[in-house]
Amino acid sequence: MSETSALAANLPATPRILIAGNAGQLGRELESIFAGVGPIVAVDRESVDLADDDQTRALVRRAAPDIILNAAAYTAVDRAESERDLAYAINEQAPRVLAQEALERNALLVHYSTDYVFDGSKPEPWIETDAPNPLNVYGASKLAGEQAVANIGGKYLIFRTSWVYGPHGNNFLLTMLRLARERDRLSIVDDQVGGPTTSVQLARATYAIVTGILAGRFGAPQDWAGLYHITCGGAVSWFGFAQAIFTRAAALLGVKAPELTPIATKDYPTPAARPRNSVLSNAKLQSRFDLQLDPWQTALDETLESLCNCA
Ligand SMILES: NC(=O)c1ccc[n+]([C@@H]2O[C@H](COP(=O)([O-])OP(=O)(O)OC[C@H]3O[C@@H](n4cnc5c(N)ncnc54)[C@H](OP(=O)(O)O)[C@@H]3O)[C@@H](O)[C@H]2O)c1
Repeated sequence: MSETSALAANLPATPRILIAGNAGQLGRELESIFAGVGPIVAVDRESVDLADDDQTRALVRRAAPDIILNAAAYTAVDRAESERDLAYAINEQAPRVLAQEALERNALLVHYSTDYVFDGSKPEPWIETDAPNPLNVYGASKLAGEQAVANIGGKYLIFRTSWVYGPHGNNFLLTMLRLARERDRLSIVDDQVGGPTTSVQLARATYAIVTGILAGRFGAPQDWAGLYHITCGGAVSWFGFAQAIFTRAAALLGVKAPELTPIATKDYPTPAARPRNSVLSNAKLQSRFDLQLDPWQTALDETLESLCNCA
């Protein structure tokens, strides 16, 4: 990567990178894939509490990054209903501080958001210009974070993604595999549809876009800064996703599938309401960055195979 091309974005060819939330699903994949791009400072909640503005500012000043990848978030959707202040501190205030610091340093900030900013009422996939209307505290706090970053401006990318899972952490896939060992029967919600997306695919896409920016392939910041939907291809209900998980896990891992029953959301009450349709159109991402994530079925197989290789 030449000095001249990185100049298109006013970033050094070998940028210093700060990764917040490196113990999370996405953060650990980002840390691994960005290893060769430049020196990395990666932090988890143990070392820096992003709910504390002073700690967040001190972190950025100490790390002196050219690129900030913010994979930290308050992601406990149901718990957020009773921990509103904490959810907003991490999902709104921390990104605001990171965006202020990034602007001051002329650094690039990559921030992630969620399909839960939408109310699910649209039958088609949601696009970036659709009006958000979150149904729960988590979605509202993430929307507030998006707005804080966008209002500060500068070199920023907001990637809205959905139904994130992978080989590590708390997620639907690993919960299903655990329940398969514990139960013979499972009831799964069939009237919420979304786009399951792996942490690995998300990290890979982030890498392709950021290194493309550094290589000058996408032009100046005003050509690429903004909000993008970024998910694996296709759509499925939680029930359909569970069916696919057990079919493929039986074939790849020899997992004995439980008997599955589709149920309605009203028969599985949770503290936080969730959108019925939160499928995100990736058309803007494709046209701006010429990039498409794999279909969710391919990404599921890739994840199960990686679990298989770990065993
Ligand atoms: N997971 C999903 O289904 C989903 C769906 C749509 C969008 N997203 C978005 O995608 C991004 C990545 O999500 P993910 O699934 O990788 O999340 P994750 O696995 O929950 O990781 C988030 C990380 O942030 C850390 N964190 C929380 N509070 C913190 C604090 N006060 N200070 C420092 N670190 C803190 C967490 O640490 P602890 O583990 O110690 O709490 C955790 O390691 C987030 O922006 C999320 O909102 C996720």
